[in-house]
Amino acid sequence: MTKRVAIFLSGGGSNMRALVEDMAGDHPARPTLVLSNKASAGGINWAQERGIATEVVDHRPYGADRAGFEAEVAARIAPFEIDIICLAGFMRVLTAGFVMPWQGRMINIHPSLLPKYRGLNTHSRAIEAGEREAGCTVHEVTPELDDGPNLGQARVVVRPDDSPETLAARVLEQEHILYPMVLRRFAAGDTTPVHLP
Ligand code: GRF
Repeated sequence: MTKRVAIFLSGGGSNMRALVEDMAGDHPARPTLVLSNKASAGGINWAQERGIATEVVDHRPYGADRAGFEAEVAARIAPFEIDIICLAGFMRVLTAGFVMPWQGRMINIHPSLLPKYRGLNTHSRAIEAGEREAGCTVHEVTPELDDGPNLGQARVVVRPDDSPETLAARVLEQEHILYPMVLRRFAAGDTTPVHLP
């Protein structure tokens, strides 16, 4: 049966676009919903123009009440009978209360070679540490931040003249290849890690 996918984002949504564009033809999943915590997220307009349902849940009125925010997110996605959630630049940490019921059905892309550089500013931290390679990871989401079973990694060489911005741009190109490849396999039940290149 075709899987129904929700994609969560907070910004431009270039990974969301790569996922949506891949979900066609014989793909085992279809984009059902795009959800953002920011109404201004560019990806929301893009999804609407393509006839994909969208939901915006602003986190700010909830303040420190993460459970309240997550309850609203859960209520908004419930009618769509979602099978898989893809986090794609969703800049809210989800608590165990939200994550646990979705474990095994929620995946994330992170711009580092996990387990290195969990959290933010991954590219500047990799450059400062003198890393020779960087990359991105798609993983199953567990209550621990940027943790969970590895579903795939793509590597890029760190150049001597790289800035965090140039490195981020090269890694992002790989994200757009890796994430659709992993989702296609994951939706078909294959959790064997992918290694690129
Ligand atoms: C990507 O680098 C992703 O790995 C990180 O946030 C960024 C989102 O970019 N989690 P976009 O919104 O998909 O363009």
